[in-house]
Amino acid sequence: MKILVTGGAGFIGSNFVHRTLATRPDSAVTVLDALTYAGSMASLAGVEDRIRFVEGDVADEGLVDQLVGDADVVVHFAAESHNDNSLADPSPFIRTNLIGTFTLLEAARRHGVRYHHISTDEVYGDLDLDDPKKFTEDTPYTPSSPYSASKAGSDHLVRAWVRSFGLRATISNCSNNYGPRQHVEKFIPRQITNVIDGVRPKLYGDGLNVRDWIHVDDHNDAVWTIIDGGRVGETYLIGANGEMNNRDVIAMILEMMGQAPDAFDHVTDRSGHDRRYAIEAGKLRSELGWTPRYESFRDGLAATIEWYRDNESWWRPMKDATEAKYALTQKVVGR
Ligand code: NAD
Ligand code: DAU
Repeated sequence: MKILVTGGAGFIGSNFVHRTLATRPDSAVTVLDALTYAGSMASLAGVEDRIRFVEGDVADEGLVDQLVGDADVVVHFAAESHNDNSLADPSPFIRTNLIGTFTLLEAARRHGVRYHHISTDEVYGDLDLDDPKKFTEDTPYTPSSPYSASKAGSDHLVRAWVRSFGLRATISNCSNNYGPRQHVEKFIPRQITNVIDGVRPKLYGDGLNVRDWIHVDDHNDAVWTIIDGGRVGETYLIGANGEMNNRDVIAMILEMMGQAPDAFDHVTDRSGHDRRYAIEAGKLRSELGWTPRYESFRDGLAATIEWYRDNESWWRPMKDATEAKYALTQKVVGR
């Protein structure tokens, strides 16, 4: 199968490429990635000579048309992905997440190519901490940030292309991923690399915000399950019952790295900070038989800490610039 993977030099996309080549060695993988601040060829180390890598923009109509026309399936990971950045400057989010998706959809329509759209649970807004409900495929869209609004818009484009043009597309909305090769701007890698550097982890607000953690390999296995057996036009939520609040995650990281569980700083909260995400993945499990392999968040987190300890050369080049950016907007407000 000829697969076009957009954003394959980013966190989830690069793990998708590694996993695809390990589990489906006959696949012909092309990666299209603009190598923004979030993409790195180092994330494809070990597989560079088994893939075709094209440096380019998903909003480049001519390039996208040529690459999509040569593929059996497109898996669209490329995006501006970080909420904090979208608050500082929404413009690249509109261009990449909306215009980029539109460009891919038009090419997939012209060539009749199967398309899978990678999206997020953030399109559903947030839940109260004591709400017994979780997000399902029927939850109304109420995105909070420029990032999540741009992803919500891209999902709507996909649905419209299915209904109006008969595009063979599926969508998945996944919860928070963790694992190797995640940029150090994100919560878990930021805290692990802070502790390695002797810096106290940084917690936004009261830290009671809940995220529903899933290992990146479980996400990517679910994506393949949907490409293989998902019904065209359908949306599938992906999650692994991994709800934890940020305070508890930081305490776990600190304990695993030999620090006191309260050795962190409270910093300025994120504007519009979503309180809680939680996924009900019953449709994916019952209809397609998917189950997560990583049963223990603690074990997955320990392996992730080990990965960052062993791969400082991967994250060191991005650490100072990331912290310098945060220093412009975040102040320590308590210990
Ligand atoms: P990431 O920021 O680590 O990687 C994004 C990749 O896209 C980078 O390699 C970057 O260079 C590339 N890219 C950005 N703009 C581009 C453009 N215009 N043209 C081509 N390439 C471009 O992101 P991630 O965390 O791996 O997220 C991947 C996808 O998964 C996104 O669509 C995101 O919305 C979705 N998602 C992420 C999570 C999560 O927890 N990280 C959860 C659910 C869904
Ligand atoms: O839910 C899926 C989404 O998960 C994806 O769509 C996004 O691409 C991905 O970035 C992630 O979004 P979040 O905003 O939830 O992830 P982030 O890692 O930025 O933050 C996780 C939580 O931790 C959130 O409540 C904010 C908090 N936080 C974050 C950072 C960077 C902190 O308390 N301290 C920090 O330093």
